[in-house]
Amino acid sequence: MYARKADFFDSQSDASWAADDYGPEELAKLVRVFAAAGPLEGKTVLEPGCGTGRLTKILARTVGIRGRVLAMDISAGMVAAAKKRLTGQAHVELRQGRLEIFPLPVDGVDLALCHQVFPHLEDPKGALAILSRSLKDRGLLIICHFKPMSAINDVHRKAGTAVAKDMIPEREEMERLCSGANLTITEFTDDERGYFLCAKKA
Ligand SMILES: C[S@@+](CC[C@H](N)C(=O)[O-])C[C@H]1O[C@@H](n2cnc3c(N)ncnc32)[C@H](O)[C@@H]1O
Repeated sequence: MYARKADFFDSQSDASWAADDYGPEELAKLVRVFAAAGPLEGKTVLEPGCGTGRLTKILARTVGIRGRVLAMDISAGMVAAAKKRLTGQAHVELRQGRLEIFPLPVDGVDLALCHQVFPHLEDPKGALAILSRSLKDRGLLIICHFKPMSAINDVHRKAGTAVAKDMIPEREEMERLCSGANLTITEFTDDERGYFLCAKKA
């Protein structure tokens, strides 16, 4: 299944939704991500499903050269585009691979940022356990999308492709899954500004 998904995202790596730098509206929506994350300079950020590196570039600037960004994506095309975008940024580690089998630091990450990727992870419970294990004590997990849950799920459902079944779980289910992964939800909104969940490792 992941091979089909990687092929699908490969076919999208030049599409403007994936490749264009964020515009003012998208940048405005990212403000609350950085507000919730707090100061990130010198910190370690994990970004699964980094796509073409649009957010990775912003994260690289935000953590600075004393920080570290660890980003990966299953799609070779996306990673190639991200590497181009992040050329010369030695504090950014960009790899092709699946979050679920990636060698991650244990208790080493300050912020795990799942931007527009969580519904694509086939085993949300397992993925949350992996993300939680990578986080430092009191480290943060943020799961966010530019659109609300209903719109995201609808786009995937109607796409009729490898992502057609990729749904963001309902809030109650996310609460249950987070709690099972030792993560306490500290902020949750799902409205016209998009989907936003922030959780802290207990
Ligand atoms: C909708 S795109 C979002 C890309 C990027 N985060 C952005 O917002 O521009 C989702 C990305 O997640 C990647 N992806 C899907 N499942 C993944 C997994 N299990 N591990 C790592 N990356 C994955 C896809 O290849 C795709 O590039």
